[in-house]
Amino acid sequence: MDINYLGEVQLAHKLRCHVDGCQLVHWEMMRRHWLLVGVCGWVLLLLMVVSRFINFNLHDDYGGKVEARTELSARTAKPQRAMPQPNSMPALDVFPTIPSDWLSVEERRLDQLASVCRNSSLRNLTHTSINKFVLDRIFVCDKQKILFCQTPKVGNTQWKKVLIVLNGKYSKVEDIPEEMVHDHEKNGLPRLSSLKENEIRERLDTYFKFFIVRDPFERIISAFKDKFVKNPRFEPWYKHDIAPAIIRKYRKIHRDPDDSSSQEAPGLRFEDFVRYLGDVSGQKRLNRQFGPHVIHWVTYVELCAPCDISYNMVGHHETLDRDAPYILKAAGIEHLVSYPTIPPGITAYNRTKVERYFSGISRRDARRLYERFQGDFNLFGYPRPDFLLD
Ligand SMILES: *[C@@H]1O[C@H](CO)[C@@H](O)[C@H](O)[C@H]1NC(C)=O
Ligand SMILES: *[C@@H]1O[C@H](CO)[C@@H](O)[C@H](O)[C@H]1NC(C)=O
Ligand SMILES: *[C@@H]1O[C@H](CO)[C@@H](O)[C@H](O)[C@H]1NC(C)=O
Repeated sequence: MDINYLGEVQLAHKLRCHVDGCQLVHWEMMRRHWLLVGVCGWVLLLLMVVSRFINFNLHDDYGGKVEARTELSARTAKPQRAMPQPNSMPALDVFPTIPSDWLSVEERRLDQLASVCRNSSLRNLTHTSINKFVLDRIFVCDKQKILFCQTPKVGNTQWKKVLIVLNGKYSKVEDIPEEMVHDHEKNGLPRLSSLKENEIRERLDTYFKFFIVRDPFERIISAFKDKFVKNPRFEPWYKHDIAPAIIRKYRKIHRDPDDSSSQEAPGLRFEDFVRYLGDVSGQKRLNRQFGPHVIHWVTYVELCAPCDISYNMVGHHETLDRDAPYILKAAGIEHLVSYPTIPPGITAYNRTKVERYFSGISRRDARRLYERFQGDFNLFGYPRPDFLLD
């Protein structure tokens, strides 16, 4: 830029020297030159400052609305920490945002989980075998002995980046190319399914295991919006393959394509989606056809086998600002990484939104949907949404 500009300055200088007084033009050109250099410098400085802060993009999980900040970096040396007193709770005051009773919140969640897992009348809804589908969901961080079960739409890309850094393939979260995060051949974050049976067993028995959940109906809405309303550039199959298959089977009224009075927008409607999800036995064949894409709407039970693997921690998306630092601490990695700041309110449950989406859904369809997800509601302590069902 500078070089080109200087060339122009000299050329203009020569041309205009013929017309005007040479000295004056020269002076004017030099002034403009230095002005431009100054502006360029400021822009460069600004860019450097901005890129320092906006390097953690949450677009995968929060629909492009959020650019969070991070200071995440992997350090090799442990910082000096106060030694915890023997026989006392781990010091929680390291994180001023976590009330000291957060430990009891987490303990209550695990108690709830365990008690619902034991309830034999819910057995079908809460248990699953630890099959390949589940092992495919679980990522392995051997360096820190952590297993992380991936559940979509709860900020998982960030956790994966954290674990990739911890595994050592990249030294900073910012260095991980976006396309590499989900490329498990190359990102140094293997799936549990890639290991031998005895290696899997050993890790399930000894590693720190966690996953994140959110209100099941909000999760469905989020998946619907993300996969069928927006048009993900790299994911055309949701609109082109999956939506038409669901519509063919679950739309109640099929308009005559020759009927020119039919002005409705093409594409999947939330009511089609709900009817598909509520049809427990009927959706099996479709789901086989949809392959791994179903991870966006099958239950947490099917994704992570929470009653068949004894997880150490279950984070809630609604309280992620408190859960994330707590999980890092419980996993013993809080001195190595931090989770990006979560803007207040963005992960909170929004009843208005849920009501709006369900306003066109019949009670019968809503109840069938609830039956399908009742295991998730009960296991993770989400209240039954009576306002949609009764
Ligand atoms: C088991 O679950 C059913 C259905 O939610 C409930 O009615 C029952 O009280 C539960 N039993 C126990 C022992 O919690
Ligand atoms: C629970 O599972 C058993 C065995 O797989 C099956 O026979 C039964 O119908 C199921 N019950 C419900 C309520 O789905
Ligand atoms: C809740 O959702 C409604 C409807 O989508 C939206 O207008 C509102 O801003 C949301 N509230 C919050 C606190 O995000």
